[in-house]
Amino acid sequence: MNKMTLTIDNLQVEVEPGTTILKAAQKAGIHIPTLCYLEGINEIGACRVCVVEVEGARNLAAACVTPVTPGMVVRTNTPRVRAARRLNVELLLSNHKMECPTCVRNLNCELQALAQSLGLRQVRFNGLVNYQAPDTSTPALVRDPAKCVLCRRCVAVCEKVQGVKAIAPLERGFDTIVAPAFQDKLMDVACVECGQCTLVCPVGALYERDYTSEVWAALADPEKFVVVQTAPATRVS
Ligand code: FES
Repeated sequence: MNKMTLTIDNLQVEVEPGTTILKAAQKAGIHIPTLCYLEGINEIGACRVCVVEVEGARNLAAACVTPVTPGMVVRTNTPRVRAARRLNVELLLSNHKMECPTCVRNLNCELQALAQSLGLRQVRFNGLVNYQAPDTSTPALVRDPAKCVLCRRCVAVCEKVQGVKAIAPLERGFDTIVAPAFQDKLMDVACVECGQCTLVCPVGALYERDYTSEVWAALADPEKFVVVQTAPATRVS
């Protein structure tokens, strides 16, 4: 099929028809930040972190799902683009339980890295939050909806890679939650605790269970932790 040429940040790029702006930019060595995108698995344009300006278009376009057209002129780093990305990440942070120092993904969190790269130092929006309790029902995984950014990468990998479909987006709008059907516990559905979801979660919303804190809690609870007194050592002479 005939290739087509477009311009991204003043660079001419030649790509196959059907290529997305994101892939074309990657080919040209231009970085566009992403969050919900997982190549070949989750290309749904949910987070709008990858927005870019397309000359002649009124609205910003999500680079991960917008196919290129011949002669297209794209700008990936204008003030309008940067402001939109900052706003989108700020809105995600406004409904994200920020306990970064104690989070399992601290310093390895895509949301944290995005906020830092966009220069976000504060969140202006602090209204209602949709924090639901963590699901600790399985011995291997923890699902913490209060940290979920609704990117659906876990949903896609569970369905398309594992073929299990243990979790899905439920409810609508502000009430949206990624959970097993009817918000059952992971223990009560077909989840096989493979951990694929924890590998693709960009934040600390799905992670392998770590018993360290439970051991410390047990140690602090005199009813659960009994100190076994041993006799003092005696010198044998
Ligand atoms: Fe493109 Fe999320 S990465 S919309």
